[in-house]
Amino acid sequence: MCGIVGYVGAQSALDVVIAGLKRLEYRGYDSAGVAVLADGGLAAAKKAGKLLNLEKELTDRPLPSGSTGIGHTRWATHGGPTDANAHPHLDNAGRVAVVHNGIIENFAALRAELAERGHDLASETDTEVVAHLLAEEFSSCGELPEAMRLVCRRLHGAFTLVAVHADEPDVVVGARRNSPLVVGVGDGEAFLASDVAAFIAHTRSAIELGQDQVVELRRDGATVTDFDGAPADVRTYHVDWDLSAAEKGGYDYFMLKEIAEQPKAVADTLLGRIDDHGSLTLDEARIPAAVLREAHKVVIVACGTAFHAGLIAKYAIEHWTRIPCEVELASEFRYRDPILDQRTLVVAVSQSGETMDTLMALRHAREQGAKVLAICNTNGSTIPRESDAVLYTHAGPEVAVASTKAFLTQLVACYLVALYLGQVRGTKWGDEIRAVIRDLSQIATQVEQVLRTMEPVRELARSLARKNTVLFLGRHVGYPVALEGALKLKELAYMHAEGFAAGELKHGPIALIENDMPVVVVVPSPRSRSVLHDKIVSNIQEIRARGARTIVIAEEGDTAVEAYADHLIRIPQTPALLQPMVATVPLQVFACELATARGNEVDQPRNLAKSVTVE
Ligand code: F6R
Repeated sequence: MCGIVGYVGAQSALDVVIAGLKRLEYRGYDSAGVAVLADGGLAAAKKAGKLLNLEKELTDRPLPSGSTGIGHTRWATHGGPTDANAHPHLDNAGRVAVVHNGIIENFAALRAELAERGHDLASETDTEVVAHLLAEEFSSCGELPEAMRLVCRRLHGAFTLVAVHADEPDVVVGARRNSPLVVGVGDGEAFLASDVAAFIAHTRSAIELGQDQVVELRRDGATVTDFDGAPADVRTYHVDWDLSAAEKGGYDYFMLKEIAEQPKAVADTLLGRIDDHGSLTLDEARIPAAVLREAHKVVIVACGTAFHAGLIAKYAIEHWTRIPCEVELASEFRYRDPILDQRTLVVAVSQSGETMDTLMALRHAREQGAKVLAICNTNGSTIPRESDAVLYTHAGPEVAVASTKAFLTQLVACYLVALYLGQVRGTKWGDEIRAVIRDLSQIATQVEQVLRTMEPVRELARSLARKNTVLFLGRHVGYPVALEGALKLKELAYMHAEGFAAGELKHGPIALIENDMPVVVVVPSPRSRSVLHDKIVSNIQEIRARGARTIVIAEEGDTAVEAYADHLIRIPQTPALLQPMVATVPLQVFACELATARGNEVDQPRNLAKSVTVE
């Protein structure tokens, strides 16, 4: 949430910062702003709305050119998306500029204090207090890094802050507590950003900033300390994905590209994790076998789409290992005083590795003595760094706000964890594990097959563009798939969409059914789940009898559904537990096409941002 860029070097800071913000706009698009140090002073511009509005403003009223600058793209928390609330925020003398991601919880008290001392605050944001505090501290200590450390010690909450001061024209200072911030080290230039995507066009050499650290960025590199000024250890790493991974590559939207990348993402996530004998080797995850053998309960914590992956994982973990598994929304988890101990294995699932709710849940779990395994797509992000072990998904960067390829790879990782638990504990015989692994290895090809047959789904989506409501039904692992289908439609098409367990229908939701209301039904395999299959076929008949327009997702060869499907979407035959991998794909395509047909912004849906770094 909120994208931040800082630059110091020989290039035009404005050009570097704007190009960086373009790559971070998925993090928030309520407003954008920049500040540049030039001619002994500080010049800033900011505009509500998308980055395009700011670019237009800069064309109409150009800023002087300078080689030190900062920029911000906002997801609004405190104060609406107006010009005044846009970042950067300046002090009254216009010498300090600051951008911020996160929430400063004690801002009201600080604001009152500043007002008493005669400061005039112009916005409704929590951020503006920082600009004024930095100006005060700078006037007594005379240097920006120290001023930042002093200010950070007074702030409560989560924050990434990046600031410049007109009296220190070759310095950018950043600070980090909970929200992400990465340093890029180039040749005679240095960068700060919420995400490496902002600077990989210039350098692949990056430094992870730790918790409660301040970085002083100069052309010749970065100096990192803690909030008390003690030098901090830094670890430089190489960013190994290339720029094309963060570009649309000929697709109209990132989401379309990312849907198409799913077969590769799935195959890459399996790669190197199965040995020549068909056994799993998850050594790189650093999960001690003893911990897995001892675990008496698994608890999965996650949000949104990642939570749906967790719901599916529960079926696999309990079936393959017989260990009880709970799945909990990370935002609820720590507030209900969950029962955890050293024999609880907590699995935190997160694409970004920065979701604040999930981070707080894992911290709570570790405080209670539980071991935490992260399933994450973003190397070096906070969640894996704070976990005992990590299994990375290899989806590559996911830029579209709506998660697609990350979801499929989260499922692969969850299946791997479940099978590995079974392997280590001996609850599954080698042959059975090998058989599932063989099936899993086929899934990438099957996803490819599904993607080749999506034109009728797109057509159907376009024909439903004027509908107000779509319901989704499923049973067993099809239930979380129904939830995921509904979530995709809500966030992209802004339609009323709800997912239900098909068996629950008669307990209330069936009252929603109206004539010609589209209802998507995910049908379990008739081969391995024949009882459930028969029950859902009855459910389809029940809703059809009440006028629903049935859109049925069913396996090839399932003839029993044909008579009751107004629209039939075929998916390949897969083992029951793996079906979500193929059944979700048509729902992603459906939501994307419906959003397009309704004229919505597919990659940047309203009110949303990728990577939710506030609770
Ligand atoms: C929905 C979506 C969100 C995320 C959720 C968790 O399409 O993308 O629901 O799944 O915000 O994000 P991560 O996985 O980054 O923790």
